[in-house]
Amino acid sequence: MATQVTLKILRYDPERDKKAHFETYTVDADPLDRILDVLNTVKWYNDGSLTYRRSCAHGVCGSDAMRINGRNRLACKVLVRDVGGDTGKKIQIEPMLGFKILKDLVVDMDPFFEKYKSIKPYLINYEAAPASSERYQSQEDREIYDETTKCILCGACSGSCPPYWAGPDFVGPAAIVNAHRFIFDSRDQGGAERLNILGQGEGVFRCRTIYNCTDACPRDIPVTKAIEQIRRAMLYNR
Ligand code: FES
Repeated sequence: MATQVTLKILRYDPERDKKAHFETYTVDADPLDRILDVLNTVKWYNDGSLTYRRSCAHGVCGSDAMRINGRNRLACKVLVRDVGGDTGKKIQIEPMLGFKILKDLVVDMDPFFEKYKSIKPYLINYEAAPASSERYQSQEDREIYDETTKCILCGACSGSCPPYWAGPDFVGPAAIVNAHRFIFDSRDQGGAERLNILGQGEGVFRCRTIYNCTDACPRDIPVTKAIEQIRRAMLYNR
C-alpha cells in the first residue's frame, strides 16, 4: 500500500552551488519499492535535475552505490521498508564519502579505477597457453578465491573505509579484493608483483581492520578476511 516517504538528499551542482546542501522531497512509495525507484520518482515527477548513476537496477553493475542512512549500499537493493521509510522516518541519501562529488549523488570514480588498475587485475602467466586446452584448475583451487570473484566494483567498501577517506593515496579495499582474486589463483604467476605493490606504504598495511568494508559489501564478500590473507601471504609466505 502506498505511503508517503520523505527523502533528505544531498544536492550539489558545481555550476550553481558553493557547497553541498540537503533538500527534502516527499513522494508516494510502496514499502516494497527500492530506494532507486523512489529516486526515480523524485527525478521524473519532482526535480529532473537530480543526478545519480544507475544502470542494471538488479545489483549487478555496481553503478548506484551511495550512502543511505549513513551506510553505503546499492540503491537498487534497499527497500523503503528496510530503512524505515514506511514508518515515517526520513531517509537520508548522500554520495559516498572519500570520493569527490561531481554532481548530487555522482562521485568521481576515476581515482578508484586507477587504484584498481594499479594492482594488475588480470591473469599473468608467462608460459605459453596449452595448444589444445584451457589452463585447468581443480575445484579446490578455484574455491580458494571464489568469494573475491564476486566484486562488482561499486566502491561501497572503499567509500566506507576511514583510512581511505583520510589517505587519498591508499589503494583501498576494493583494489585489494581484486588483487586477492588473482594472487590466490593457481594459474596466475603475478602474485609476487602484486604483493610487492600492496606491501608498500599505501597498500594493505594501511588497513586498520575496522570491518566497515565487510559490512558495506553488497555481495557479502568477506573483504577484511581477504586483506588479512594477503598480509599473511606477505609475512609468512602462506
Ligand atoms: S543499478 Fe546496477 S547495481 Fe544497482
